[in-house]
Amino acid sequence: MAYFAIFLAILLVYPTKIASLEVGFYQKTCPSAEAIVKSVVEKAFANDSGTAPAFIRLHFHDCFVRGCDASILLNSTPGNLAEKDSSANSGVQGLELIDEAKAKIESQCPNTVSCADILAFAARDSVSVSGGLYYTVPAGRRDGNVSRAAEAAANLPSPNFTVAQLKKNFANKGLSLDEMVTLSGAHSIGGSHCSNFMSRLYSFNKTYSQDPSIDPNYAKLLKKMCPKKMSGASIDQVVVSFDPVTPDRLDNVYYKNLEMNKGLLFSDQILWATSSTRKMVKNNANHGNLWAKKFAKAMVHMGSIEVLSGTQGEIRKDCRFVN
Ligand code: HEM
Ligand SMILES: *[C@@H]1O[C@H](CO)[C@@H](O)[C@H](O)[C@H]1NC(C)=O
Ligand SMILES: *[C@@H]1O[C@H](CO)[C@@H](O)[C@H](O)[C@H]1NC(C)=O
Ligand SMILES: *[C@@H]1O[C@H](CO)[C@@H](O)[C@H](O)[C@H]1NC(C)=O
Ligand SMILES: *[C@@H]1O[C@H](CO)[C@@H](O)[C@H](O)[C@H]1NC(C)=O
Repeated sequence: MAYFAIFLAILLVYPTKIASLEVGFYQKTCPSAEAIVKSVVEKAFANDSGTAPAFIRLHFHDCFVRGCDASILLNSTPGNLAEKDSSANSGVQGLELIDEAKAKIESQCPNTVSCADILAFAARDSVSVSGGLYYTVPAGRRDGNVSRAAEAAANLPSPNFTVAQLKKNFANKGLSLDEMVTLSGAHSIGGSHCSNFMSRLYSFNKTYSQDPSIDPNYAKLLKKMCPKKMSGASIDQVVVSFDPVTPDRLDNVYYKNLEMNKGLLFSDQILWATSSTRKMVKNNANHGNLWAKKFAKAMVHMGSIEVLSGTQGEIRKDCRFVN
């Protein structure tokens, strides 16, 4: 009987501490939260379609480092370089728009909605505006209060990873090889700075100066946009679209491009060049609707990585600073 009472006590107390995520988490406490994020995302996208890929990448980079806890939004402080100032996060954008959504939400329901959930909602709404596919986002994430640049470099995948390295990197976060290939489809929108793929064009390896897996005409185009000797300013300014066919549309054309050897990053094209992932690429290229469903599901899974919930962490007042 005593054992049973202890068991019951644990059952009653424990769930509030590890409360997991749920759809409609703010329905009672801040019913307009999701609508506010949506309107910010839609307005920004109408002005600049580059905001959608920015939000999707922000959520990914948040979740892969210390879980989805908005650690990517924290500013560096004296003596601590934060995640966003790591070279692994170079090119991340959209932070001002997250601030805008957070400020609007705080004015309606202070201290209630986490920055981590705002990132997850913004990524979902970005998928929706750019891809026309919608999914519900389980919420209730809490914000962390630690952000270290070194952890971004250690946890985020590099554009010159092989499939074995990509597989291991995603497995470390509980994501499968198929989910890795499915989520890489996010590279059907947005773009990359030349520095992330220039070695494929000019200094691939000892035998080949140019990666032999690149379609020759595509390589010519890339070399024109990213000449061997780029000046300081253009290195930062030139961004090449991942998908030259439908650059602002989140779709499975990414996989069709890979089949034609028109993947931008080494880590993109290698998915086609490696036998274990080649059939997944083929499948996603041939079945767009199936890919879209898998993509939405994988985004939700990614959004659950190592989350803080219940009484863990905090609800930041300002996404750039711990309370
Ligand atoms: C598989 C391993 C991955 C690698 C090595 C990788 C690497 C990169 C690199 C190097 C860039 C270019 C950044 C720049 O130059 O500004 C980029 C952009 C991007 N990545 Fe990934 N990525 C990976 C997976 C993912 C995943 C899983 C997602 C989301 C689900 C994602 C979403 C994006 C988006 C949307 C952009 C465009 C950002 C923009 O235009 O603002 N990536 N990625
Ligand atoms: C519209 O987008 C441009 C860049 O693409 C940006 O400079 C500008 O601030 C945006 N305007 C608004 C109102 O968001
Ligand atoms: C990996 O890619 C970077 C660019 O992102 C490049 O500068 C570096 O030389 C590459 N490293 C290796 C080992 O290929
Ligand atoms: C260079 O790359 C090619 C194509 O990926 C590969 O077959 C070859 O073994 C590589 N050579 C060296 C020296 O790494
Ligand atoms: C970080 O958050 C924890 C609760 O999750 C709290 O105990 C700790 O005091 C916080 N540290 C700072 C520096 O805010």
